[in-house]
Amino acid sequence: METKYWKVFKDDINHKIIERAAGIISDGGLVAFPTETVYGLGANGLNSQAVKRIFEAKGRPIDNPLILHVAEAEDVFKLASQVTECAQKAINTFWPGPLTIILPKQKDIPIEVTAGLDTVAIRMPAHPVALALIKEAGVPVAAPSANRSGYPSPTTGQHVYDDLGGRIEAILDSGFTGVGLESTILDLSGDIPTILRPGGITREALSEVLGTVRVDPGLTDLQQKPKAPGMKYTHYSPRAEVVLIKGERENVRCKICELVENYFCMGKKIGLLLTEETWENIDDKVMLSATYSKNLGSCLALDEIARMLYGELRSCDVAGVDIIFTETYTEKGLGAALMNRLLKSAGYKVVNV
Ligand code: TXA
Ligand code: MG
Repeated sequence: METKYWKVFKDDINHKIIERAAGIISDGGLVAFPTETVYGLGANGLNSQAVKRIFEAKGRPIDNPLILHVAEAEDVFKLASQVTECAQKAINTFWPGPLTIILPKQKDIPIEVTAGLDTVAIRMPAHPVALALIKEAGVPVAAPSANRSGYPSPTTGQHVYDDLGGRIEAILDSGFTGVGLESTILDLSGDIPTILRPGGITREALSEVLGTVRVDPGLTDLQQKPKAPGMKYTHYSPRAEVVLIKGERENVRCKICELVENYFCMGKKIGLLLTEETWENIDDKVMLSATYSKNLGSCLALDEIARMLYGELRSCDVAGVDIIFTETYTEKGLGAALMNRLLKSAGYKVVNV
């Protein structure tokens, strides 16, 4: 299949393109589109056949449910059978934005979307191109991240093309996404709001509005099954092995130098994704031994590191790197999402120094 690749400027949207893309969705096809988090792979969320195609294109396990994307907050009432006061507060405060809420589902939502669960995930993205497409399609748009299953989510149209070119009808390219990590998933179907996946809206921000907010214990305790089915898979992983080095800055720097020398001697191609603070103190010789290296900026600017992370993991693969050494961050604020993705991409391999 030839994949149409359309550039759309988010400040000057070409509505002819949006109409064509929405037409593809109405006809049961797949269109990748930008959101403020990562690119999504959209289909008509009320059409079982179209939704099945998402799973085929991505190679996604069928027991991993999808998020329905809406263009109006009120659409939540068409999709959820019960919208609590707490859910209303969350919607009023954080939509449009990087927050997905889980609520009891309406009967008519296809089983393929919810993977047989009695709840449904709903989100209103804060991206003018996403909103224009969903509005024009006139249906809730089921969309996972637009990557091959298990690979880091796409933050540019080119990433989507690299993964799904030839497998989907069209890609709307609006350049880089904003947050760079996926939305926060908040389960509001029980008594206490529970984060099933940390993301662009922090626990701290949610607590300010909703009071007590729990974090699914399955996210950190590897013996427990996470409540979001997608969180149990190896995920966000480049082909290269990822290793996190954790400890005092100087110890981290020494360990990275030692590891680079050892792996270089073994003939391995090395990737280094480092904070500015560590980068500045690495010897030239060590740096030259790396096949790919990137200064991610200050460890204090977590938003910038989050924005760059997936693209840089992909760049390491493009450079043919065997092993990537990178660092750990505070788990406060956006750091919770960043560390969740880093730990998963590393398969929980952490060298403590
Ligand atoms: O930022 C995002 O959320 C992006 C953009 C495209 O909106 N989408 C995204 O979708 O990350 P996906 O499919 O890659 O991740 C959705 C996650 C999966 O871990 C899935 O298991 C979980 O949401 N999920 C979906 N429905 C659920 C439900 N009813 N109960 C629990 N978890 C659910
Ligand atoms: Mg995904």
